[in-house]
Amino acid sequence: MSDPRKLYIKTYGCQMNVYDSERMSEALGPNGYVTVDSPDEADMILLNTCHIREKAAEKVYSELGRFKGLKAEKPDLKIGVAGCVAQAEGEEIMRRQPMVDLVVGPQSYHRLPEMEAKAGQGAKVIDTDFPEEDKFERLKSRPKAKRGPTAFLTVQEGCDKFCAFCVVPYTRGAEVSRPVSRVLDEARDLVERGVREITLLGQNVNAYHGEGPDGRDWSLARLIRELSEIDDLARIRFTTSHPNDMDDDLIAAHGDCEKLMPYLHLPVQSGSDRILKRMNRSHDRDSYLRLIDRIRAARPDILISGDFIVGFPEETDEDFRDTMRLIEEVRYGQAFSFKYSTRPGTPAAERAQVEEAVKTARLAELQALITDQQRAVQDSMVGQEVGVLIERAGRLPGQMVGKSDHLHAVHMQTDLAPGSLARVRIVESGPNSLAGDVIG
Ligand code: 5AD
Ligand code: SF4
Repeated sequence: MSDPRKLYIKTYGCQMNVYDSERMSEALGPNGYVTVDSPDEADMILLNTCHIREKAAEKVYSELGRFKGLKAEKPDLKIGVAGCVAQAEGEEIMRRQPMVDLVVGPQSYHRLPEMEAKAGQGAKVIDTDFPEEDKFERLKSRPKAKRGPTAFLTVQEGCDKFCAFCVVPYTRGAEVSRPVSRVLDEARDLVERGVREITLLGQNVNAYHGEGPDGRDWSLARLIRELSEIDDLARIRFTTSHPNDMDDDLIAAHGDCEKLMPYLHLPVQSGSDRILKRMNRSHDRDSYLRLIDRIRAARPDILISGDFIVGFPEETDEDFRDTMRLIEEVRYGQAFSFKYSTRPGTPAAERAQVEEAVKTARLAELQALITDQQRAVQDSMVGQEVGVLIERAGRLPGQMVGKSDHLHAVHMQTDLAPGSLARVRIVESGPNSLAGDVIG
């Protein structure tokens, strides 16, 4: 047998890209590739890209520029661009960077093995179709290798919401849910390989409506309840959700499904009704706050996480104050915040833009508040007994690191192996993590 060829994949952006990169690397296995950690030794480099903000998209071109030298030294090196920049820019990528051999969109990467073979013969190959066939079905079943204790599992892709700032409906296409039986098969397979915690992924994961074995569409709550029947699966999470798709059963599941972890990422983007309307968010400040109340009534200790955009076109100081007031009301345990970034082809791109300096100041103010809240929630864990899934060894001798039910990183001294579930009493809250003593 010939030596395996080496594949280096660099992943940008969201967790769905992390999942897609795993699947792409597995798909290229039969073409003779093994995955390596450095581009220097690679025979093929694949950038799995993100188009959500301008900075993310521009990073791809600067990274490609850096590979020029490698390609000059090693003319057989193949360079591919996958993901949402590939989808959005297609041929333009090869025009700007002629050394790119292959461009593949997020809906067509099951065709990667054939594309790689063509590229190997010197062709330039592009596929940014939204094909009829289900890419997950076409992908070879996943190899049976042992895995770490946590895994992502994509159950839904695409988005029909068309928020005025967002490229996702264009790059990932219309909303599609995978059938229940395939999700269950994949979950069982992951669990057999050592996975104890699965995070269900989708751009709009709580809009999940996959076909069930009874021929009817199942909701995400129903899927979660079914998954929780898998014995050795200990924890279930899901992300990212839209406020309008939080149905009653999903809220109830947070109260009565033990394996569903007390953490919910529920982006609101802005606290101003005027801006929410301009964003085409189809919920308002009040409906979001009432929703949070209902979720907290079902699961009082749930940790709420969110996404915020500051400096959306036409955002005034008063609009921004409304966002700050909403944050104060909700008390987030975690949040991601961004300056609005103009995305070509989206409705908001055409509108009056907020000055960069104003965006910068608002982002700093918002992040300071979020940091305080995050810290307060984390500090409130001290003295509590929490469940921790141990993931890996820490830096100190005898130290292990895991995640609590609320997704805080926890350090502890223990002999327990990765994949073990421990009861831990939290004794300290540091800048980015907790420390605790194993009590069972
Ligand atoms: N500018 C800034 N942030 C954006 N997001 C999506 N599109 C943009 C944009 N054009 C943010 C939203 C979303 C998260 C994934 O990225 O907050 O929830
Ligand atoms: Fe983008 Fe999320 Fe809005 Fe869909 S719901 S358009 S993915 S921000």
